[in-house]
Amino acid sequence: MKKIQLLSAVNASIAGNIGADLLAAAILEKPDCLLGLATGSTPVPLYHALIAKHQAGQLDFNQVRSVNLDEYVGLKGDHPQSYRYFMNEVLFSKINIRQENTKVPDGIAADQNACCEAYESQIKAWGGIDYQLLGIGQNGHIGFNEPAAVFSRRTQVVALTASTREANKRFFDRLEDVPTHAITMGIGTIMTARKILLVCTGEQKAEILEKSLFGEIDPQVPASVLQLHRRLTVVADEAALSTIRLKHPEAF
Ligand code: PGA
Repeated sequence: MKKIQLLSAVNASIAGNIGADLLAAAILEKPDCLLGLATGSTPVPLYHALIAKHQAGQLDFNQVRSVNLDEYVGLKGDHPQSYRYFMNEVLFSKINIRQENTKVPDGIAADQNACCEAYESQIKAWGGIDYQLLGIGQNGHIGFNEPAAVFSRRTQVVALTASTREANKRFFDRLEDVPTHAITMGIGTIMTARKILLVCTGEQKAEILEKSLFGEIDPQVPASVLQLHRRLTVVADEAALSTIRLKHPEAF
């Protein structure tokens, strides 16, 4: 099996610093690069580290473009739990990226299929994703590509599993408020990225990370497809690496 580029960090904050260094290098190399961005708790330290670089005058986002992985269906961009709102609050408003250069799927598009097609066209028009940042769900999802019979191809509307809604309930008042559907880039879309950076932190991700990187390539574990990507880097903290250290000490 091909050796995965696996970078270990003592904690989530250091994992964020390492991830930010990788993305910063990509931006310095190609100032108008297209970044694929992610939401959730995992990328927050990475975004903080990017902001710090920007504030220190080391990183210019003026020409950078971004496409986010996913958005909840039914939430407007100004809803505090929408991913557009998250990105604006956590990252975009704190760096000099141009708002028109940031895309998040439109959760309230009247014609959702047209919206998915337009998203794919936008990615193509911008020359394809240079660097895709990913987190991983406890069920192995990437973006909102949930365990399924086949790997999804392109951007589409998906139903969220009960476990994902349960995991994301912490951000809403009640489980009933968690949307039942989302628009997500497909696994095929994600795999077209020239480089992929998977960040994974926390003990609760240790088992799924091991399964994804060392188990069967199986659409029931969507992240396992990443084993087939030629330029995958995984940055994980010691807690998330615990199962891999136990079962695959040779990986380091
Ligand atoms: P998390 O979510 O970073 O909040 O754990 C990751 C994901 O569900 O993809």
